[in-house]
Amino acid sequence: MKTILVTGGAGFIGSNLVRYLYDKYPDYRILVVDALTYAGSVQNTPEGAFGSNRYEFWYGDVRNGELMNALVSQADVVIHMAAESHVTRSIYDNRLFFETDVIGTQVVSNAVVKHAKTVERFIHISTSEVYGSALQEKMDEEHPLNPMSPYAAAKCGADRLVYSYWQTYNIPAMIIRPFNNFGPNQHLEKVVPRFITSTILGEPMTVHGDGSASRDWLFVEDHCEALDLAIHTDINRLVGQVINLGTGEHRSVAEIAEAVNEVAMECSKELVTVAGGRRKDDFAQHAGGGSRAIGTTKIEFIGDRPGQVFRHTCDASKAKRLLGWEPRTDFRDGLKKTMVWYQENQSWWQPQMWMRHIPIISASGKREMH
Ligand SMILES: NC(=O)c1ccc[n+]([C@@H]2O[C@H](COP(=O)([O-])OP(=O)(O)OC[C@H]3O[C@@H](n4cnc5c(N)ncnc54)[C@H](O)[C@@H]3O)[C@@H](O)[C@H]2O)c1
Repeated sequence: MKTILVTGGAGFIGSNLVRYLYDKYPDYRILVVDALTYAGSVQNTPEGAFGSNRYEFWYGDVRNGELMNALVSQADVVIHMAAESHVTRSIYDNRLFFETDVIGTQVVSNAVVKHAKTVERFIHISTSEVYGSALQEKMDEEHPLNPMSPYAAAKCGADRLVYSYWQTYNIPAMIIRPFNNFGPNQHLEKVVPRFITSTILGEPMTVHGDGSASRDWLFVEDHCEALDLAIHTDINRLVGQVINLGTGEHRSVAEIAEAVNEVAMECSKELVTVAGGRRKDDFAQHAGGGSRAIGTTKIEFIGDRPGQVFRHTCDASKAKRLLGWEPRTDFRDGLKKTMVWYQENQSWWQPQMWMRHIPIISASGKREMH
């Protein structure tokens, strides 16, 4: 029996984690606090959770010290996910990034200090973006921190803030640095759902720069399994540690666009079995728009994103050593599951359509919708 507090639990990764824990641990109590910004939604709540006595949703802000004290005082485990999370958005308006990601983390950390006697562990979710572009083949936790966007800088501040609190106040903190995630319930502003929905809508997929920027893509369910292990592994092994989560493989954005086209083609053939008895023409109709053949969505290249990170590849050997974790989902399989989810849940993402593109001044000085 544990009480787990998840900040940002109505967002993409947070809601996947909450659903995972809610389904797997029927005797755990889960508290979610979320400010329901444009990126969070109560629609992401696990089915049946509202009204059950083991789930509580708190509409609130992590910068609210009193609220965070009240919630942290009840928790055995605190998992801090709440953040402004979109790199491109941080380019044109970064105030909230520093307020939520840095000050919010300070407030949550102060609450952990105050309740250090009862909080068994504090899991801070950082990001691989703190590293900047890879200076070596694979990036381990010792890679220099060279954040290249305001989002990355804010997350880097939060990451080092938690580290300093561990050093200064001896709180039971650990810092997780996941590489890029993808999967169900991800906001359409992020590249994988943007490409998938472009395919479904029959619109071109827009790729920044020459499409060679590469990332390590982790399926969100694998991330949830790692956090499950971070909750349950002996705390003495984990306290004060920084742990990367990724696959050790990288793929360029252009390759992702091609893979989305290929997987759309496979899905159109297999949807009968994947989605349970729906005619494959159904997918063909949505995933191609009219007469266009599936898997041939056009790829359009636009200006590069300022502060672009050119390559991220994870060295996750520490996660294997400390948590016994390895990602299990093959990239294609994860992409297929994700595509089927977006196909099946159009009413979830249709309201986000207007936020798929963000105006920025590109590296070449042109105003572009990214
Ligand atoms: N998505 C990725 O690829 C990725 C990779 C590495 C790390 N991360 C980190 O993982 C965490 C979750 O990312 P995500 O992709 O699920 O983000 P997300 O944007 O989908 O969700 C963030 C959630 O935080 C909530 N939130 C924002 N400001 C808040 C505030 N002031 N108080 C309370 N709640 C607030 C939002 O409403 C939303 O529900 C973030 O800390 C992010 O930096 C994400």
